[in-house]
Amino acid sequence: MCHYCGCRHVSLIRDYIAEHERVTDLGGDAVRAIAAGDLEKARRCIDAMAVGLATHWRGEENGIFRVMQREEEFAGYIAPLVEEHRELAELLATVDVADPAGQQQIRQAVVELHEHISKEEDGLFPAALTALSGRDWDEAMAAWHEAHPGAEMISD
Ligand SMILES: [Fe+2]
Ligand SMILES: [Fe+2]
Repeated sequence: MCHYCGCRHVSLIRDYIAEHERVTDLGGDAVRAIAAGDLEKARRCIDAMAVGLATHWRGEENGIFRVMQREEEFAGYIAPLVEEHRELAELLATVDVADPAGQQQIRQAVVELHEHISKEEDGLFPAALTALSGRDWDEAMAAWHEAHPGAEMISD
């Protein structure tokens, strides 16, 4: 695989997007479980989301975020995304799904997660395709592997 043709770039982004789909599916399951009154299932979905997101965020923050943050024009876009990661992690770890206020927080958080992901998939990732060098991509890929020990990236 070459460093400059685009294939590696798309490969990493494809993994980030697949991770987004997995966690938003879990978020949808959690919201539906709350609506059905299955709080045990809701808690399981939220825990699985937290685990998936922790890995995903590690890959993003130490990877594509870190290399893009070196450019001032992107640093201001990325800082709030990292804050949103921290806020959601805190909520997922502490929310009481038996409390109607906690249930509302989860519904809201799932909506906000979709918005957060749009800022990445429709803003940051396309910008990365033109902004990053081959070396930047190598660094971002290395961070993904560090966050997913032993895992393979999605292949064609
Ligand atoms: Fe993110
Ligand atoms: Fe993400």
